[in-house]
Amino acid sequence: MKAACIHCFSGTGNTLLATRRLAQALNEHGVATTWWRLGSPAAVEASPGALGIAFPVACQSTYPFVWDFVASLPPGHGRGVFVLDTLHMVSGGLLDALRRQLEAKGYRPLGAAEIRMPSNLALRAMPPEGVASVVGRAMAAIDAFADDLVAGLAKAAPQQQMEVDAFKLPHHGSMNNVTKALVEAVNCPCWLFSTDGTQFRHPDAVAIARVICYSAQQPVTLIFNVPSTFNRWWSNPGWKTMYGYETEYGNHTDGITIDFPINDDQ
Ligand SMILES: Cc1cc2nc3c(=O)[nH]c(=O)nc-3n(C[C@H](O)[C@H](O)[C@H](O)COP(=O)(O)O)c2cc1C
Repeated sequence: MKAACIHCFSGTGNTLLATRRLAQALNEHGVATTWWRLGSPAAVEASPGALGIAFPVACQSTYPFVWDFVASLPPGHGRGVFVLDTLHMVSGGLLDALRRQLEAKGYRPLGAAEIRMPSNLALRAMPPEGVASVVGRAMAAIDAFADDLVAGLAKAAPQQQMEVDAFKLPHHGSMNNVTKALVEAVNCPCWLFSTDGTQFRHPDAVAIARVICYSAQQPVTLIFNVPSTFNRWWSNPGWKTMYGYETEYGNHTDGITIDFPINDDQ
């Protein structure tokens, strides 16, 4: 790679910081790098070299105008493209979807990195030393990404697994939101479904099947806040044996309480 132009959107500065660092690291490798505010497909045609796209993760995807920008890109004709996103925890398989879209437009994926940064969504501010440590690790990861991009070793869609004790499925367990990529991005034994099924009849059976099939940890425990017409059948003992999963149900008065062991070493 001799030149690169990075198109960046940042809501609160994390992605801007990450993009600046990436541009600096690429420059140090002799790659002439410019960067632009994301949103002008015309600027993509005007600027030479590999195309970089940088943006924050939002709602296990990204903002609609980022997708619009990708959709309006000119044909790639084999032009290299790389992606940098910043996030707090998990992007729900967004990189796979983005890679497919860029490939369909004729771009050649060179690599993608998801950089963990302090959350701009958290209700409680992180202490300054926590911020410094997360940002320090992020900058090191960006330098490594620049090294890999230049050496041609970067992966087009890294599979970062988030390790947690329990994971609440988005949108009450809708099959449109609980994708294979999302389940594979999370490493946990307990999957929480919070709905009584009124209005949309969630959770969808397809969503639950994806959790049972694609969870990295097996067997999974499906935890429902209340029993309902739409989740009751998963308590079937024959299914549990055949498909290898467990269930727990709360009740309509108290919901459900889950106790997790505390590791004092952490
Ligand atoms: C509305 C909103 C939704 C978010 N959704 C996610 C998410 O689904 N997953 C995640 O890991 N981080 C999420 N975040 C955290 C941001 O992705 C993260 O803090 C990012 O670094 C912010 O970048 P920026 O400062 O460039 O806007 C969200 C933040 C906001 C404001």
